Order: sequence, then structure tokens, then C-alpha cells
Amino acid sequence: MDQIRIRGGRRLEGRLVISGAKNAALALMPAALLTDEPLTLRNLPRLADIDTCGHLLNQLGVSTHVQGARPDEFGRVMTLRAGRVSSTTAPYDIVRRMRASILVLGPLLAREGVATVSQPGGCAIGNRPIDLHLKGLEALGAEIELEAGYVRARANGGLRGARITFPTVSVGATENVLMAAVLAKGASVIENAAREPEIVDLCRCLVAMGARISGIGTERLEVEGVSRLHGATYRVMPDRIETGSYACAAAITGGDVVLEGAERETMGATIAVLEEAGVSFTDVDGGLRVTRADGLRGVTVQTAPYPGFPTDMQAQLMALMCVADGASLLTETIFENRYMHVPELARMGADITVKGRSAMVRGVPRLAAAPVMATDLRASMSLVIAGLAAEGETVVRRVYHLDRGYERLEEKLAGIGAEIVRVADEGP
Ligand code: UD1
Repeated sequence: MDQIRIRGGRRLEGRLVISGAKNAALALMPAALLTDEPLTLRNLPRLADIDTCGHLLNQLGVSTHVQGARPDEFGRVMTLRAGRVSSTTAPYDIVRRMRASILVLGPLLAREGVATVSQPGGCAIGNRPIDLHLKGLEALGAEIELEAGYVRARANGGLRGARITFPTVSVGATENVLMAAVLAKGASVIENAAREPEIVDLCRCLVAMGARISGIGTERLEVEGVSRLHGATYRVMPDRIETGSYACAAAITGGDVVLEGAERETMGATIAVLEEAGVSFTDVDGGLRVTRADGLRGVTVQTAPYPGFPTDMQAQLMALMCVADGASLLTETIFENRYMHVPELARMGADITVKGRSAMVRGVPRLAAAPVMATDLRASMSLVIAGLAAEGETVVRRVYHLDRGYERLEEKLAGIGAEIVRVADEGP
């Protein structure tokens, strides 16, 4: 298994290309199940999770054809075609590797009237139930049984439009129910829908495929079911979490970096919070320029659904706040177990106290390199960010987490001046 070695202290400077959004792509790809015509997705990131999703769709009978895969290019174009759905089962072996596999449930049910998907179970950041997905689909007329670790869903007479009010905002449940509702008979209203930009991206793609959706980008989505959808070509939005992560990386080194393709309007509270911490963002042609001239200041932030500060940015912000002037108070409200990076940051000299859902970070003048590893994707990125500012060589292990969500991370960071290499891990 590979590891990443970083020698900290280099100021990051230059231009870096932001890839297509992983989380948008993981909902857009299953949307291909909704039509027998081809769906072409442009700007798809090259990531392990995207490969896993493609592999799952292949098992269901969807053909995937990739173009534009030049090794020197970021992103690629994939045409997905579900001419015929040959299987309606998402097996445990794939779902356990990637929870987002649950997003085939709604589309399979809408297209085939039946779907069997392994229950995802918990993961490193918490329990992560799927009750909201299932209740939403039941409201649309699905009969659901849980049996031997699998969700078995059936809609004998087809799905019917309904009013669904989510008690909690859920990105995945909104996506699943939305993809089912677009082919249901009659009208649906989804209240307390997630408003994340990835949902907007999915809505726009579905509309391009012939779906009728209004209220896009709001907490109330109205869907008028149609009898069939057609093919489309759609460009995946830029990754707002990758953007925020590299903004933190630039900031911790006092750098000056242009994030090409980044879109300010998808960033929600991330920009405001980082500005409060002393990071500057300027719109430039084709992207966002991130600079940090003066010292970093501690901030008080709690994670929240969009447009609030994203839980997927909490670990990276924490790494930055480790070297800020004064104390920061970060509160995680979305997932119960999302401080797995704290002990690792502490090994690099950070001063962090966790009490329940809050973490108090007292800024220290500098971090020191250490061998570290993390248990999830964003936590791993926080260790990379810390390593960029630490004295000495930081070795980040379990790089497969990073490969799930950051397209060629070491290449991008080396391109803006970081001293970073990927090497084969010789350890046990
Ligand atoms: C998506 C993102 C993930 C991000 C998260 C929150 C993808 C592939 N993943 O995950 O990176 O961290 O949004 O922005 O897009 N919940 C329930 N019951 C359910 C579903 C969710 O109680 O049926 C709870 C969750 O445990 C969590 C909260 O709702 O506390 C939000 O989770 P949700 O928005 O569903 O996250 P995901 O869609 O899994």
C-alpha cells in the first residue's frame, strides 16, 4: 500500500485544477439507470469511488464507456447506457466498500419496480442509518423488507407521486427519493429537501433528461412524474470540498494559489469562515484565487447542512486552526464520530480538546512532522494539510482513503510547490 511523504514549510504558489465533484458524480451516475438511452457525463473525476460506482452499474447491466482518458489530463468523459437492466441487486461486496451505492435503490425501483440493495451499515464517522431513504420510497408506494442484511424493495403497481417531509436534512435520501419520483405516476413534493449544490447538479441533469422538477436549490422540490426519460450530456460541477481543502492547504503555507474551475457560488459558508480566519478569496478569470498575507485567526464554527459550513470541511479547517492565533471552537452536528483526526493532529503537536460534539483547538506556533494515518477521507486530507506546514517529514499512511476522493493529490500539490511524493509502503 502506498504512503505519502511531505516535507513541510514550502509556500504554495501557482495554479491548480479543481476536479469534478465526487459526490455529485456518485448521484449522477446511477441516474443513468432511469433511461435506456445514453447518459454522457463530462468532467467526471478519476477516483476510486467513481470506479467502484461504475463497477456496480456494470453489474446491473449498465455499459460504461470512457473517453478522453489521457494520462496527463484531469477528469474524463463517461457514457453510461442502461439499454436493459440485467440485475436489480447491489451486492454486499460493493456496498460495503462504498456507502453511496445505496443511490441505485431509487432509480432501480423507478425503472424496474424492484430493487435489492445490501444495507450499508455503519462506517468510520458514525452509524449512518438509511431510514429516511426507505420511508421516502415507501411514501411513493414501495413495499420494503429488511432481510439478511439486504433491503428488498418492490413497487408492484409502479410508484405513485406523494408528499414527503423529511424530519432531518439528508443529501442521500433526497437524491434517492428524487430519482424515484421523476418516473412515478403523478406529482410529488419533497419538503425539507437537502439544498446541497450536488442536489442542484442532479436536478439539472434530470431536467436535461426530460424530468419535470421545480424549486431546484430550495428546501421544497416539486416533481411532476413523467413516463420516460431520455439521454443527455451533462457536465459535473466542480468539487467544492476539494476547492475548500486546497484553499486550506494554500492558507496554512501563507500561499497564493489560483484554483481553476472553482465556483464561489457553490461554496456556501466555507468562504465566509475561511475569510474570518484570515484567508482571502478573489474571483479571477476561470476560478478563485486564494491568498493569505497576515496571520490566521481562530474561529467558532458549527457544521450544518448547506449553505452552512460542511461537515466534509471540518477536519481540514481544524488542521488550519491548529496554527492560528488564539482558540477555535468547532462543533460537529452532522455525524457523531467525526474527530478521528484529532489524536493524529495531536501527535503532530496540535493542542485540541474534544468534549462531546465540540473541539477546542488552541493555536500553536508550529506543528512537527510525524508518521500519521487516518480512518476516513477528509481526516486524511487534514493530515496532509498539517504536514504541509509541519517541520520535518510527515508520512501519511492509508493513502487509499485519499484516492477515494482527491484526484492525483500529490501531483496537484507538487505542481504548486509542495515537497510531496507517493512511495510504496514497506511497513506492515
Ligand atoms: C452525503 C455526502 C457526505 C457528506 C454528507 C453530509 C455523498 C456521497 N456523501 O452523505 O460526504 O458528509 O452528505 O453533507 O454525497 N441520516 C439519517 N437517516 C437517513 C439518512 C441520513 O438519520 O436515512 C442522518 C445521517 O446519519 C446524518 C445526517 O442525516 O447524521 C445527514 O446525512 P446525509 O446528508 O444523508 O449524508 P449522506 O447522504 O450519507
